Amino acid sequence: MKPIKLGILGAGRIAQSAHLPSLAKLEEFSVVGIHDPSRILLEGVSAKYQIKPFIEAMELIENSGAEAILIATPDRFHAELATLCLTAGKHVFVEKPIALSVEQAEPLVRLADQTKRVLQVGAMKRHDAGVEYAKAAIDEKIGRVLSASIWYRVMSELRPPTEATYFPAMVVDTDVRIKENEIKSNREKYLLNTHGAHVFDGIRYLLGEVNELSAQMTSLASDYSWHGMLKLQQGGLASFEITSNVHSEWSEGAEIYGERGHVSLRTHFPVSLRASDVQVFIEETGESTHPVLGDGSAYKRQLQAFARSISTGIPANPGPTDGLKALSLISGVERSIASQGSWIAL
Ligand SMILES: NC(=O)c1ccc[n+]([C@@H]2O[C@H](COP(=O)([O-])OP(=O)(O)OC[C@H]3O[C@@H](n4cnc5c(N)ncnc54)[C@H](O)[C@@H]3O)[C@@H](O)[C@H]2O)c1
Repeated sequence: MKPIKLGILGAGRIAQSAHLPSLAKLEEFSVVGIHDPSRILLEGVSAKYQIKPFIEAMELIENSGAEAILIATPDRFHAELATLCLTAGKHVFVEKPIALSVEQAEPLVRLADQTKRVLQVGAMKRHDAGVEYAKAAIDEKIGRVLSASIWYRVMSELRPPTEATYFPAMVVDTDVRIKENEIKSNREKYLLNTHGAHVFDGIRYLLGEVNELSAQMTSLASDYSWHGMLKLQQGGLASFEITSNVHSEWSEGAEIYGERGHVSLRTHFPVSLRASDVQVFIEETGESTHPVLGDGSAYKRQLQAFARSISTGIPANPGPTDGLKALSLISGVERSIASQGSWIAL
């Protein structure tokens, strides 16, 4: 396969910690250009990775020869940039969340459909080999789901050894960090959006559509915790927790009980690039399977899936409708909290 020519918008943390190291290992793409409004990041990152810098985003989109664009900018630019790229005939990989709101995401779903371009959302956990294994067991082995609990607890800070082990040395523009931290200072809104984009995409991927939800939120100082119940379309009940931050280690997982068995999933801190640990128990045989999946970058695997969608026409995974539905669940959580935990139909 000829490498797909890829342009990158945004040279910040996720571009440097996940996408550029992944792309350096992939033959599916050749990176033809990068743009970031920060000159420090543009010059530093383009020199470090030997990528042509573009001072203007439109110049990169229209005149770099890119067939596809990876959008790794802050959330508030996703919808606008994805629209520009799709309209210019490019395939698009946009970081999660697909947009800031359901209202912003709806036209994008339509535009991807009209332009017949691939629009994949960066909810990369679908490409974690352990999560894939859990999904196959849920779909094929354990029968209909009666009960599930899903949790996602983010540690308050990266300990220096964690940062030193997992993150490459990064080019930093302190002014960009200060500005972005100010914008993220509405923590209640920001944390639910940024973490909910992963959690609710994962819930739909593993358990199918949600008919109704009810949620509560509490906070202590600057830490927030959301708990809720979901009525699944296929009949079961699920509970979820998103807590940011916990003063502990990263803790993410799921316990899923079906008619004929049980799936247990433990997902690691994402940048550790380890597949989730998964255990599948089947009642009939009385046996548990615990595959050793080991290392495996979901960030790299999601880009390989993006390349497959571009070259074969298979739908993006997750696609724009998935991005929209994750936002719809987030909005449902907000509406339920605003009405004292009442049930919200989705
Ligand atoms: N999938 C994951 O696990 C994961 C993890 C972290 C962040 N993210 C997502 O990635 C996105 C970026 O997060 P980050 O932590 O890298 O942020 P960041 O602030 O470190 O980097 C974003 C960069 O985009 C640049 N930028 C702003 N406007 C731009 C434009 N119009 N064109 C090009 N670049 C522009 C900024 O200058 C900045 O350098 C967010 O949407 C976030 O939700 C995903």
